[in-house]
Amino acid sequence: MKTILSGMQPSGQLHIGNYLGALKNWAALQNSGKYMCWFMIADLHAMTVNYDARAIGERTKNLALDYLACGIDPDHSTIFIQSHILEHTYLSWIFANLVPIAELKRMHQFKEKTASGEEAAMNTGLFTYPILMAADILIYKGDTVPVGEDQKQHVEITCDIARKFNNAFGKTFPEPELLLTPTPRVMSLTEPMNKMSKSKGEKNYIALSDSPETIKKKLLSAVTDTSPGETMGAGVTNLFTLLKAFAKDDATHRELLNTYNAKTLQYQELKETLAREIIATLAPIQEKRREFESRPEIVAEVLFEGTKKARALAQATLAEVKEKVGLK
Ligand code: ADP
Ligand code: TRP
Repeated sequence: MKTILSGMQPSGQLHIGNYLGALKNWAALQNSGKYMCWFMIADLHAMTVNYDARAIGERTKNLALDYLACGIDPDHSTIFIQSHILEHTYLSWIFANLVPIAELKRMHQFKEKTASGEEAAMNTGLFTYPILMAADILIYKGDTVPVGEDQKQHVEITCDIARKFNNAFGKTFPEPELLLTPTPRVMSLTEPMNKMSKSKGEKNYIALSDSPETIKKKLLSAVTDTSPGETMGAGVTNLFTLLKAFAKDDATHRELLNTYNAKTLQYQELKETLAREIIATLAPIQEKRREFESRPEIVAEVLFEGTKKARALAQATLAEVKEKVGLK
């Protein structure tokens, strides 16, 4: 059976990009019964930017609620907190010695910071972030990593690390595969050339917790193309992508696409239809979240049991690694 390992940082509200690029897929993969699934709350990674010691506990709990609300089922998947398993950081130190600085400098995240002149102020945690991510995956011998497209490079570096370790110390780790969804890069509603992201302001994303009114408002003001040309612009393309992903049946998507091709589409109709479909998808998720929120003891139990189970495997892998690298 294959092993899935994925996670998200508890760094704010989740949006429909996180849902379509990762979470929805996690639940589907879990339900396929073909994988052993580990879903982590990456609180150590959340320390690399805008860290708030007073908020992290609450954010961790909120992310666990989101996982449960979106269908991650603790009877079939293990949900746990990264920082509670010390073996991740131990393994990341061993891995750090296999990674040339030049390779980390090739990461998009690093390049973005250097391009915007922020390199000098960038902390070392953000720089070595991919190494900790590799440890997160490999300590569970994860061979399948379902994440959005922006994480592709991090999975590639994880493969490099696994290969180097295996060559140096004997076969220990699988070389994990990236698993993308049909919507691996949902675009921003306000700047459709960029990906939807929680760091770019509330209007650019639809949060999983947004009310029907807010969803309608955000969509009605979503950027569409100013001058209708021959090819579909990024804003409209994104709305159609979202409609295809959220619509219960494909006929709605096809009909509107036909009207677009016939040049008779009113963008308002596209936006209102999309709003209805998103609201209908999010309503049961929001309802389920409220139910779990009213039972905090269940969430605490899920995290406690999950972390215990994850720790046992992490400890076993680290013992094997220590033996191989001569630290026993
Ligand atoms: P953000 O960029 O909003 O801070 P994260 O980096 O916390 O989001 O991403 C959490 C997960 O959601 C990752 O698997 C990431 O690849 C995925 N993801 C984030 N934004 C998008 C998007 N716009 N489209 C598809 N997947 C996304
Ligand atoms: N870097 C991921 C993100 O920002 C979160 C993450 C940390 C992760 N460790 C991981 C994802 C291991 C997959 C596997 O979304």
